[in-house]
Amino acid sequence: MYQLSPSILSADFMKLGEEIKKVEEAGVEWLHIDVMDGIFVPSISFGMPVISSVRKKCSLFLDVHLMIEEPARYISQFKAAGADMLTVHAEACKHLDSTLYHIREAGMKAGVAINPATPLCVVEEVLGIVDMVLIMTVNPGFGGQKYIPYTTEKVKRLKEMLKDKNLDVDIEVDGGISKNTMDLALDAGANILVMGSAIFNGEAKENAMMYQNRLEAY
Ligand code: DX5
Ligand code: ZN
Repeated sequence: MYQLSPSILSADFMKLGEEIKKVEEAGVEWLHIDVMDGIFVPSISFGMPVISSVRKKCSLFLDVHLMIEEPARYISQFKAAGADMLTVHAEACKHLDSTLYHIREAGMKAGVAINPATPLCVVEEVLGIVDMVLIMTVNPGFGGQKYIPYTTEKVKRLKEMLKDKNLDVDIEVDGGISKNTMDLALDAGANILVMGSAIFNGEAKENAMMYQNRLEAY
């Protein structure tokens, strides 16, 4: 299953509802929501109130990417806000195993993310208890950055690792994914593509339709 997960970080927040409607009309099923705390990453974005408002207005699968320290503190609040999946950074969790377990216990899908320079072995032991691994293809914190080429190899190695262990886990890539880089990630084994600036800088509906078509044809 391939999915496009448009990141609202690059949307116009004055027209957030309209922007989301546009990608929904394009046939997208996922929506990527970047929560930043100003500590794990330099920037601060938004939190539960925004997610609750989005939840009330759309039925997309809410793929929530938590770039926050010790996300275990907020699992029930994100569930109450309407998240369908929580992805936590391995670098931000003292107790990664129990954090992932609690996300699932709360009734959400669980994902684990790693930064470009974090080695894959950090997530190896939890591959059996996650629904998705997010390989950051830029350093997290901002939209519109350039794809880091060495991350392609990491996606390939993760795909191999999952195959060896006979595990059915989604691989998401996030950062600098656009026309020029999406095939690199797909060929390496990624099946969920986050796209922020590639979709929302310009005509969101047309962009989302174009990328959806490319994914369907892949
Ligand atoms: C970056 C965020 C991304 C961001 C991607 O820290 O996790 O989801 O919105 O933006 P683009 O697609 O513009 O690189
Ligand atoms: Zn993200």
